Amino acid sequence: MQLSKKMENLGTEVAFDVLEEVANLTTAGRDIISLAIGEPNFTTPEVIKEAGVAAIRNDKTGYSPSAGISELRERVAEYLSETRDIDYLSSETIVAPGAKPLIFYGLLALVEPGMEVIYPNPGFPIYESVIELLGGIPVPLPLRAENNFEFSLSELKELISPNTGGIIINSPHNPTGSIISREKLALLADEIIKHDLWAISDEVYSELVYIDEAFSLAGLPGMQERTLLIDSFSKSYAMTGWRIGFAGGSKELIDGISKLITNSVSCTATFTQLAALTALEEARDDLDQMKKKLEERRDLVWRHLNRIPGLSCQKPAGSYYFYADVTDICKNLNLAGSEELQKYLLKEAGVALLHRECFGDKFPGEDREYIRLSFASCSKDRLKEAISRIERAVTTPKSQVS
Ligand SMILES: Cc1ncc(COP(=O)(O)O)c(C=O)c1O
Repeated sequence: MQLSKKMENLGTEVAFDVLEEVANLTTAGRDIISLAIGEPNFTTPEVIKEAGVAAIRNDKTGYSPSAGISELRERVAEYLSETRDIDYLSSETIVAPGAKPLIFYGLLALVEPGMEVIYPNPGFPIYESVIELLGGIPVPLPLRAENNFEFSLSELKELISPNTGGIIINSPHNPTGSIISREKLALLADEIIKHDLWAISDEVYSELVYIDEAFSLAGLPGMQERTLLIDSFSKSYAMTGWRIGFAGGSKELIDGISKLITNSVSCTATFTQLAALTALEEARDDLDQMKKKLEERRDLVWRHLNRIPGLSCQKPAGSYYFYADVTDICKNLNLAGSEELQKYLLKEAGVALLHRECFGDKFPGEDREYIRLSFASCSKDRLKEAISRIERAVTTPKSQVS
């Protein structure tokens, strides 16, 4: 069957392919430790599960309005005011089956063919693939280790052209764990306003911040009306499979996204929305406990990872990833790059990770190799075991690794 031309431009998220590979290897009897996918191994807090089950029992199983049930939209507006100090009307909020569809719909509503859109590289791969699908021109904004994986303002200024329509940012950041400071966001906002751009601020890790407070671009003067602020229940409340995220933005954009929802999935499952409402109302303690555990895991991984010869990494300020420089390891093992290292570690050590290019092509002049390691997906003991296995595999010649 002949697929449409635009499908040629559609990329993917390699993490899902690795997830499948890990499942196949596990079924075949191998003991694989997966640090590849950005998914907490915590179960959804009981109070949220109970709310979902009760909603199903109470027959909340029909369609809902496309933009979401009014109680949840109102609560989302309150939550955004509590956490970001930004006042949205409930009509300026929307609920969708995850942050990912909101990125998709947001771009669908904003990108014209030929429009340049700036996005972080390394970064969540879906930004680039959707911009291309829509006929836009993805313009990668390098995040360099020497800048703590924050963008450089001068580099950003050089990338803005008369064809630039908008910019996507992600803070706390996947895959590097960096956070964009309030001062940097203010400088970014100046550029956005000066060039009359729109912004998408992907804040799905907003609750997973280990230093200071994460601050939203949308909270800066003049930015609320030109920013689509996207957040999700997936990471904060261990609700990845429930499929629910939310956004705040201008009424026109929110109404546009609502129409796109009507044209595609119709709405988010009503019982999922009711469970999410309970998450915002009653699961703060659960969230705080999960965050504490994640912080402990972060500290443990930090202590153990840095003892691996040839590996260096910064301590993530937010999200749940280490983005480790493995250039020397690749050289020592005679591997062409981090993709080969990813394969090597899966085969020889039974540890699944993601390589540099899962987060976009290397930018010009980039000569380091990286892997991303999620510390959310398994217990402290398994994390320690994974790091020992990696250490053995990179310090022992291939043939001796069991
Ligand atoms: C930066 C970023 N944005 C969005 C998402 C998708 O979140 P959701 O599960 O809400 O679709 C992810 C998930 O990995 C992510 O890392």
